[in-house]
Amino acid sequence: MIVRQAGEKDFEKICSIVNGNLDDYFSPDVIAFFMSQWPQGQFIAEDVFGNAVGALCGSKLDGGRASISLFAVEAPFRGEGIGGMLLDAFRRRCFMDGCGTIQLEVRTTNGPAISFYRKRGFEFSENLPHFYGDGGDAYRMVAFSSGCRAS
Ligand SMILES: CC(C)(COP(=O)(O)OP(=O)(O)OC[C@H]1O[C@@H](n2cnc3c(N)ncnc32)[C@H](O)[C@@H]1OP(=O)(O)O)[C@@H](O)C(=O)NCCC(=O)NCCS
Repeated sequence: MIVRQAGEKDFEKICSIVNGNLDDYFSPDVIAFFMSQWPQGQFIAEDVFGNAVGALCGSKLDGGRASISLFAVEAPFRGEGIGGMLLDAFRRRCFMDGCGTIQLEVRTTNGPAISFYRKRGFEFSENLPHFYGDGGDAYRMVAFSSGCRAS
């Protein structure tokens, strides 16, 4: 498995992974915006045949913060460490680009993802009622890009 920075040629694959594995629909325009505003903050995971199996799109925020905007691994490939590899690559990029804090929003009902993030140093920072278009609630979670726990 290879994790590398994603580029324009990966756009269709990332759209497919994102919209095949997240509850919300993200239009190509939104995904293109994420990919263009911080090219170094976009990552894709591929198997040895070049098939895309996971992606993480990050955003740069103000105040030395970055956000995990889109993040998914194809269901048959979960639990094999691919999400961890994508997150590690993103963390290193954040650290190198001076983003000390990483934040994300996750559905309060998404137990596996919450557990994944907590084991990797993310902590709850905010409740976000009705955050999603369908009325669903979110938690905001934060961590330091260095991997230390944010308090
Ligand atoms: C969250 C997500 C990206 C993690 O990717 P992943 O490739 O499964 O991540 P990893 O394999 O590195 O770690 C998954 C953890 O769950 C465990 N696990 C075992 N079997 C699993 C399975 N079938 N599915 C998911 N996780 C499994 C792994 O052992 C690992 O445990 P650990 O936290 O103790 O290390 C992935 O679950 C996913 O795409 N979920 C759906 C989309 C989503 O919720 N995205 C996040 C939105 S905020």
